[in-house]
Amino acid sequence: MSATHIIPLARLQEAMCLVVRGFGSSEDEVQAVAGNLIEANLTGHDSHGIGMLPRYADAFLEGGLQPNAHVQTVTDAGALLRLDGQAGFGQVIGREAMALGIERARTHGSCIVALGNAHHLGRIGAWAEQAAAAGLVSLHFVNVVARSIVAPYGGADARFGTNPFCAGVPLAGRPPVILDFATSMIAQGKTRVAHNKGEPVPPGCMLDDHGQPTTDPRYAVVPPFGALLTFGTHKGYGMALMCELLGGALAAGMTQRNDDASRRRVLNGMFSVLVDPSVLSERTAFEREALAFLDWVQASPPRDGYGPVQVAGDAERLSRARRSADGLPVDSITWQEILDAAARLGVDARQVAAAAGC
Ligand SMILES: NC(=O)c1ccc[n+]([C@@H]2O[C@H](COP(=O)([O-])OP(=O)(O)OC[C@H]3O[C@@H](n4cnc5c(N)ncnc54)[C@H](O)[C@@H]3O)[C@@H](O)[C@H]2O)c1
Repeated sequence: MSATHIIPLARLQEAMCLVVRGFGSSEDEVQAVAGNLIEANLTGHDSHGIGMLPRYADAFLEGGLQPNAHVQTVTDAGALLRLDGQAGFGQVIGREAMALGIERARTHGSCIVALGNAHHLGRIGAWAEQAAAAGLVSLHFVNVVARSIVAPYGGADARFGTNPFCAGVPLAGRPPVILDFATSMIAQGKTRVAHNKGEPVPPGCMLDDHGQPTTDPRYAVVPPFGALLTFGTHKGYGMALMCELLGGALAAGMTQRNDDASRRRVLNGMFSVLVDPSVLSERTAFEREALAFLDWVQASPPRDGYGPVQVAGDAERLSRARRSADGLPVDSITWQEILDAAARLGVDARQVAAAAGC
């Protein structure tokens, strides 16, 4: 098992900004990319945090990620937008796509945003949080165009990505409910984190390269590759399929099929629905009912071995509070990979390490 650095938030921010400047990004993009990745670490999703930077560096160096790109409108039908992400940083493209959708939902009461050709959109919950901060309910179906990593239900090899689904509901007087998960049993990045830490993944998550069950994360990280399984057997598989059909075929016009598996880029397609609850119904009545229901659900007595009943978004808020105060854990293999990526981008890795205090 590798050692872990605990890095204070401010130092990590400074260090990661140094790395992202290596892409030649504008200062706004530097802040957006570093901020979004660190936010993923803060919320406990190390799989979608700064550990993605080596992959982004590879994608950039092979020409698959375009720094300083902005979202372009392909189709404007008022409450229906089709957008192209120009293979730009998902951290910028996602924010711009949501901003356009939020503006339209405020005008029309709702908006469908079909986004294609965005480089990795990271933690999809960030986009539901952006919509919720504007008072909007949102749904997001996302596909992943990169090497296939997840097997269909009953299939023995990988045919699609970890296709995340996300939904956000803003509430009066309490934080929004943000449901945000990969449709695979575990997110792909969690296999990388486990592999780097030298830990197994839980049983029932993966197949090896012969389609047999395994707990060794290597089968998702280094060849010969196996496959992750979908959560909830045929139901999770059905949801993953919908993410591909809506986020991929419909929104992006691009599904995970015959993609060149040697390429390091990760493209996401995202089909988002934004709704203004105050246009659909009386806002206070909706919020009263929603809050009453959450109280009712959370009054369920905890089972043996469990803490108080949580709702989606609580785990991320607890982690954010804890890690903001205590610092962020980064295992030493991931840290070395980030320093190596910085060097590939022409950034002085010693400066990055010094900024982080590692
Ligand atoms: N951009 C991409 O291509 C891509 C692909 C896959 C996943 N992702 C991201 O990976 C991240 C991690 O996904 P994951 O599947 O590992 O998430 P996960 O398994 O940790 O599930 C997270 C969800 O479950 C909720 N949750 C956690 N504990 C709970 C509890 N005790 N009670 C009630 N709800 C609880 C969380 O609030 C959150 O909504 C997500 O942010 C996702 O968007 C991105």
